[in-house]
Amino acid sequence: SVPQRVFSGVQPTGNLHLGNYLGAIKRFVELQDRFGCIYCVVDLHAITVWQDPAELRRSIREVAAAFLAAGVDGEKHIVFNQSQVSGHAELAWIFNCVARLGWLNRMTQFKEKAGKDRENASVGLYAYPNLMAADILLYRATHVPVGEDQKQHLELARDIAQKFNNDFAASIAANGLDEKFFPLPEPLIAGPATRVMSLRDGSKKMSKSEPSDASRINLTDDADQIASKIRKAKTDPLPLPETVEGLKDRPEADNLVGIYAALADSDAAAVLAQYGGAQFSAFKQALVDLTVDKLAPINAEMKRLVADPGHIDRVLGHGAERADAIAETTMAAVKDIVGL
Ligand code: ADP
Ligand code: NA
Repeated sequence: SVPQRVFSGVQPTGNLHLGNYLGAIKRFVELQDRFGCIYCVVDLHAITVWQDPAELRRSIREVAAAFLAAGVDGEKHIVFNQSQVSGHAELAWIFNCVARLGWLNRMTQFKEKAGKDRENASVGLYAYPNLMAADILLYRATHVPVGEDQKQHLELARDIAQKFNNDFAASIAANGLDEKFFPLPEPLIAGPATRVMSLRDGSKKMSKSEPSDASRINLTDDADQIASKIRKAKTDPLPLPETVEGLKDRPEADNLVGIYAALADSDAAAVLAQYGGAQFSAFKQALVDLTVDKLAPINAEMKRLVADPGHIDRVLGHGAERADAIAETTMAAVKDIVGL
């Protein structure tokens, strides 16, 4: 049977936020006991839109620092930077030739990110989901912890794995390989904060690219910034509901309760058992205290780590060597299968 392996990545595009932490990085840490994990700073994804080179280099180290500061173990597991392992780009090209135009045309993230001026979007932004499929399947990963926004891309990765296995079934067999050469990777989208929303607009997800800094809690924010942003977060005038059903059609309340639940390793029902009937002013103060309590140590450790870029580069270099060893095995087999 296929070994259980986790792969996931975060883009070094600045402004790492609470959504990235609760939807992804916190979960990366939790999965380390049950799986062999590969966590990647996906810099090739970042350049699908313009990045200032010096800022990109800084952000790469910052994302690596966030992984480590949150508790990812770069010795026991693998932490590296995508561009350091050439197999990602190589397999992505092969997947460009497997995936169908019609499949990519259905991707909603491209439509959102390209906006109205679609003719002027990079080809890379369009083909991004094929690179993401390559990231995962290069390690033949079986499980992918991500936020809700990545669900459609994961489905595409499964479709690509399936089509590759089918198209090349005879060659896979002739090479003596498992007929399910690529496993169909399973998304791990779970918990109370799979889609953290903007603090200013309950209909938009919290995002790195939102111009308003008040819309998100950054992992680099200090206690005062966290307190101010949570106190100013948009809410409705009602007290908190007593039950989870009462959160329906109250997106801002739902979001803040979900954030609290995720930070407390609890769930919305338990949070409402404690705070149901409370005014937002009281609940927000409790949320400030909890958020500061959980993020301050990560923030401090990130600061310590980014002050020593040499150390981060060594961790990433060591991770890249180990990742590359797995990637090379996969690529050698893929080339045999395709006839290259
Ligand atoms: P962003 O979407 O902020 O630019 P990435 O694309 O690098 O960040 O995503 C990194 C991880 O964080 C992905 O697993 C993504 O699903 C998750 N993520 C991003 N935004 C949120 C959010 N608002 N809530 C929950 N998870 C999120
Ligand atoms: Na994203």
